Amino acid sequence: MADHARQNQQEWTQRYTGAVMNTFGTPKLVLARGKGARVWDADGKEYVDLLGGIAVNALGHAHPALVDAVTAQLQTLGHISNFFASEPQVELAERLCRMVASSFEAAGETRVFFTNSGAEANEAAFKLTRRTGRTHIVATEGAFHGRTMGALALTSKEAYRTPFEPLPGEVTFVPYGDAEALAAAVTDATAAVIIEPVQGEAGVIIPPADYLAQARHITTAHGALLWLDEIQTGIGRTGTWLAHHNDDLTDPLSAAPDIVTLAKGLAGGIPIGACVATGRAATLLEPGNHGTTFGGNPVAAAAALAVLDTIEKDDLLSHVAAVGARLAEGLAREPQITEVRCAGLLIGVDLADGIDSAAVTAAALEAGFIINNPTPSRLRFAPPLVLTDDDVDAFLSALPGILDAAEGTVTA
Ligand SMILES: Cc1ncc(COP(=O)(O)O)c(C=O)c1O
Repeated sequence: MADHARQNQQEWTQRYTGAVMNTFGTPKLVLARGKGARVWDADGKEYVDLLGGIAVNALGHAHPALVDAVTAQLQTLGHISNFFASEPQVELAERLCRMVASSFEAAGETRVFFTNSGAEANEAAFKLTRRTGRTHIVATEGAFHGRTMGALALTSKEAYRTPFEPLPGEVTFVPYGDAEALAAAVTDATAAVIIEPVQGEAGVIIPPADYLAQARHITTAHGALLWLDEIQTGIGRTGTWLAHHNDDLTDPLSAAPDIVTLAKGLAGGIPIGACVATGRAATLLEPGNHGTTFGGNPVAAAAALAVLDTIEKDDLLSHVAAVGARLAEGLAREPQITEVRCAGLLIGVDLADGIDSAAVTAAALEAGFIINNPTPSRLRFAPPLVLTDDDVDAFLSALPGILDAAEGTVTA
């Protein structure tokens, strides 16, 4: 066993705080290894991982397909500069063009810019929108698009924005899910409208079924681009390849976007992001307009291809819908939970008054379950897509005790 696995939580946490900048607060745990939807901490305690690195570990931990793909690619060609191309990069770009495009013809007019993260994918898209000659962007209240200066300018949370103002851009925020407010904000000077098909960081907020189709209609009428941030919702998370393909949300063709940004689950935990643009948006960035050292890296691309192949081969899209519904139904049975919002394996719940979501998360951790509290009254679940019925049932049987332990934790 490696030295690091023998050291305990306390020692590693102390070393962390002595060496890593304090932007995330003290870590809740030091994790040592994982398998499927289970992880073990540095003291050997087992947890069911219902967060999946915040919607990242699509194939769970240590999936052999991902391990094999990364190992084989690293043994062949680990990195090249963007003066050169690699086969996995080209293959992945073609797959994403086909996934995002609304038709076979449109796939031929679709192009990808690869990055290393979600914020960078959004930065690329933000720069792309500037090439329309317009600078006004419409974003939504409650939106989260990343922490770089450009992505932050599109993110609504004051606490994240204020310390770094002035932020770039002329950005108008409108209430999420409100097509009338959107129509009132978009003008002929608007470069783009950016929308998450389901707001993740806000606590899994699902808009009305026709919202994206309305957004498409409004943007088209004003010559603005429709940009869907599918960084959290894409790559099978909601039970379809992309959340805006979901029949429950809208008719996919009527909501066909000009830009889709992806990251998180795309390579199952190997850093990657992608800005995928179609039609006129595909050619707005010209040679010299943008760049990256690592974007399009062959190892990350090979990892992403393994994720896409495994989702397809193991029919994980159907699995996500079934196992997500099982978890959501179990959550809805708890009297302390007042609302459950389920988009496949992206699930948000509202807690009854008097229950602090941080206390629920802490009680869950104590009981051996990793969950997340994006707001003081909401919980979020974004587990690996390979989550099993047994994992769900283990959590649901512990849940009443977890909620009881957290009852009455809201302080005035
Ligand atoms: C919808 C959305 N956009 C962008 C981002 C930023 O991605 P990253 O943290 O990889 O920069 C996130 C991350 O949570 C996200 O959920």
